Amino acid sequence: MPVSQHSDKTILTHPASGAGAEVYLFGATLTSWKVKGEERIFLSEKAVLDGSKAIRGGIPLVFPVFGKGKAPHVTASLPQHGFARISRWKLVNSHEDSNSVVAEFGLDHSMISEEHRAMWPFDFSLVYTVKLSAETIETQLRVHNIGNQAFDFNTLLHTYFLIPDATKVRVIGLSGVDYTDKVLQTTARQEGDAVIRGEVDSVYANLAATNIEIQFGDNRAAGGVQLHKNGLKDIVVWNPWAEKAAGMADFGNEEFHRMICVEAGQVAEFLALAAGDSWQGSQILSLL
Ligand code: BG6
Repeated sequence: MPVSQHSDKTILTHPASGAGAEVYLFGATLTSWKVKGEERIFLSEKAVLDGSKAIRGGIPLVFPVFGKGKAPHVTASLPQHGFARISRWKLVNSHEDSNSVVAEFGLDHSMISEEHRAMWPFDFSLVYTVKLSAETIETQLRVHNIGNQAFDFNTLLHTYFLIPDATKVRVIGLSGVDYTDKVLQTTARQEGDAVIRGEVDSVYANLAATNIEIQFGDNRAAGGVQLHKNGLKDIVVWNPWAEKAAGMADFGNEEFHRMICVEAGQVAEFLALAAGDSWQGSQILSLL
């Protein structure tokens, strides 16, 4: 079966190519994308997969706040990165055509905890669509305001890429973009490709470019992944590096060498969604 449902996760298989993906219902977190026989998504060996905390790796979904909300904004009391990644979603639909296999997951206000509902009292519905093709995977989030009052939200496809060597990776497509460096607490303009030489936590705002490349070495021959984004303006680049990694219970001490998060979303500013309105954003990942 191209889409099979297990108690805690949905497995997508693209029969003609052998490509595959796995999505946990907890957080609708995609934890695996295999294409051309290789895993491309980082999942920590210490990731907690029992639903007791956000999954460390894969593509956690940030919604409705990026990081920790700040008073007096209504998101101030929500947990870091919101509740979508720590709520149990349901598989609402699956289908296939000659090119792709599609699974659709849903979360709405009736499915989140009483506690989260009290913290963020809006009527919403999220639909997350994962479309697996022979050489690409598309993940799309739709946000519907089904209530009668407007709400603000941030969102992010917080993608952890599995890479051979963090010190060699280059993130291409950010040159000339202004960013906030959350490690140094400064703002700057990116010159050239972004590279990793220590802890990185940078928020690039309002990119005109739609294609970002995560190149594994100095040139394309080294391999890598292209991230094509649609309707998502900002990019976050994150690697915790040694010290932060050592302080994270669900992240192996040496794992920072083989991962980079390049996260497409709407985080520099909140988006406002009027009652009855909908919004959507997506990314398509492919190999370089
Ligand atoms: C990134 C943030 O998106 O996520 C970082 O920019 C944060 O500041 C990282 O540390 C991981 O967050 P968490 O909540 O999964 O540990």
